[in-house]
Amino acid sequence: MAKNKIYKLINLHGVQIEFLALGGKIISWKVPEKNGITDIVVGYDHPADYFTEDEYVGALCGRYANRIKNGRVNIDGKTFQLSQNTPPHHLHGGNEGFHKKLWKIKPVESSEGQSFELRLFSPDGEEGYPGNLKTTVIYTLTDNNEFIIDLKAVTDKPTIVNLTSHSYFNLNGTGKEDVSDHFLQIFADRYTPLDKESITTGEMASVENTPLDFRQPKLLSESLHSDFPQIKSKGGIDLNWVLNRYSHELSKAVVLHSKQTGITLEIWTTQPGLQVYTGQHFPGKGKGKSGYSLQPFCGVALETQGIPDAPNKPHFPNSFLYPGEVYHQKIMYKFYSDGKLF
Ligand code: BGC
Repeated sequence: MAKNKIYKLINLHGVQIEFLALGGKIISWKVPEKNGITDIVVGYDHPADYFTEDEYVGALCGRYANRIKNGRVNIDGKTFQLSQNTPPHHLHGGNEGFHKKLWKIKPVESSEGQSFELRLFSPDGEEGYPGNLKTTVIYTLTDNNEFIIDLKAVTDKPTIVNLTSHSYFNLNGTGKEDVSDHFLQIFADRYTPLDKESITTGEMASVENTPLDFRQPKLLSESLHSDFPQIKSKGGIDLNWVLNRYSHELSKAVVLHSKQTGITLEIWTTQPGLQVYTGQHFPGKGKGKSGYSLQPFCGVALETQGIPDAPNKPHFPNSFLYPGEVYHQKIMYKFYSDGKLF
């Protein structure tokens, strides 16, 4: 398998999504709109650049997305030390997380649209995690302008799993401007505050009367540079919201909209949390798509996932996986380009 091979999904409306075997990284997502075709995800022109970047651009993150305090978990009375890739904590599956792996890809039949299956075997002990974990992800692009990510995993020892997809969206087309003129709506009354080291404190706090209240659509610029300590101390937004509804059925988590292109992106999920990260750590150097450097705020990552550090916070929704069980979550991106917000 050529490392740099690009896999393509195309639908009847001319939408095209491209990805790599490396981390299943989504490298382009082209949506026809009133002025032409817009690529709504941040990235690079050349596949080779995805092998060296450190921002998880477009990647599948696992085994456990987000931060785990001190990289330590207790499973049924046994403590496991995971790699501490953001010392002393564990982030997005460790040094060689799922975003760095070459997944096995094959096209599969689907009644819903064009699909590819992505498979990865993660051996017992990898990055400190117990259990041989088999992960199967299906990417499907439908003719109703939906992109569906179906996530499944099974284990042979008790373990933890939390998978997400880490695209940075810019609905104006990547490179030209930052995302501050985007409208955002989040279907969540609560968020999980962070301590100084970006670890969830265990609290689920109300968004009421804070700049984190996106229950009605609001311009990102209204909150992005706020003095609110949970924003200011992180240099932008990098927080998890507790979604109001989550179940085995998909429910709407978040909506992003650009007036400029008229593109609206809805994300539906079966997962309990949504990490919103406005890309403030992008280094502002190197060549992104069309030669634009990737600047802070050039895209917003909207990562549906479990609530961060759930293995160490028993009152957060469970993220343990036992032999005989199937971890199964779904993310559905629905996009419109008719100029309407809702
Ligand atoms: C996290 C950020 C982290 C980034 C790395 C995001 O999902 O929330 O804290 O810096 O990933 O790209």
